[in-house]
Amino acid sequence: MTAKATVVAPANIAFIKYWGTQDWDQTLPFNPSISMTLRECVTRTTVELIERSEGDSVLLRTAEGSLEPAAEAFRQRLEPHLDRLRRWAGEEVAFRVATENSFPMGAGMASSASGFAALTLAVVAALGKQTSGEEASVLARLSGSGSASRSVLGGYVRWPAGEEPGEEHAVQLASADHWDLRDVVAVLQEQAKEVSSREGHERAPSSPYFEPRQKLLPDRLETVTQAILARDFSSLAQTVEEEAIDLHLIAMSSHPPIFYWRPGTLEVLAAIRLLRQDGVEVCATMDAGANVHMICTPDSEAAVAEVVGAITEVGYLIYDGVGQGPRTIEEHLV
Ligand code: PMV
Repeated sequence: MTAKATVVAPANIAFIKYWGTQDWDQTLPFNPSISMTLRECVTRTTVELIERSEGDSVLLRTAEGSLEPAAEAFRQRLEPHLDRLRRWAGEEVAFRVATENSFPMGAGMASSASGFAALTLAVVAALGKQTSGEEASVLARLSGSGSASRSVLGGYVRWPAGEEPGEEHAVQLASADHWDLRDVVAVLQEQAKEVSSREGHERAPSSPYFEPRQKLLPDRLETVTQAILARDFSSLAQTVEEEAIDLHLIAMSSHPPIFYWRPGTLEVLAAIRLLRQDGVEVCATMDAGANVHMICTPDSEAAVAEVVGAITEVGYLIYDGVGQGPRTIEEHLV
């Protein structure tokens, strides 16, 4: 049995959004989603097996760079998942966890997706268990972060794979090598958002725009799937932006409403529209936060960075792109 394992797992950016949870026990969404797995925005997690009597412990890398015991709220989010993985493995062990992110946490940049994907895979590896990508995506999803099920796979990913029972896992639509898309992230807000995604998922069905969007989704899923397969940027761009706006339209019209945007969000969106009118292959999307992901082709990346980087409200840019998915490494955090 391997006693210690370290996994680097990426965040992902959704092209078709998961917004609204149908079943919290199983973490099942109202609709399928499609995302691009990232390369640079990652969580690195080390898990070491220890005696059950010692209890679980969690260290988190601080902004100052040291590994410190995680705050109680953070630990409490991890604990039910560690219990679930213990039950799944049938092992009476405790876990010593250490984790760090390469990007801001809780600011609508999918740190829960990369975090729970890394934690799940590191526990599985430390226990010396083998899982298929499908099984790993199911385990990651049961953490309560549905998007974590997409982060266990690389490239372009759909979750759930289908609408039938037994198709609740994520599935790769195309590998990272199929299409080199970039994601330039305009970071407008680094601190954690005020309303969690979980709260957003719960409130989503209370919006009058929730049902109309559900009716549009079969066409949008098909359009985005075909656009990825055919590497058709213009048809991808239009649907990705419609989806991003609809997520926020639903959030803003939920009861009670949720406003994730900052004034800079609108400025970036306007700049992206102008760039596209000038023939630059770029589109914008946001998850549950103010930061804007600018999806673009390699040839467009420099123009996007130049224009958006000059906007005062933009703190800094992260240069990311489609990635291969999680990997196990030998450099442990502790
Ligand atoms: O997986 P969760 O519960 O963190 O929710 C993710 C929600 C969005 O990021 C807004 C959309 C998505 O599909 O990733």
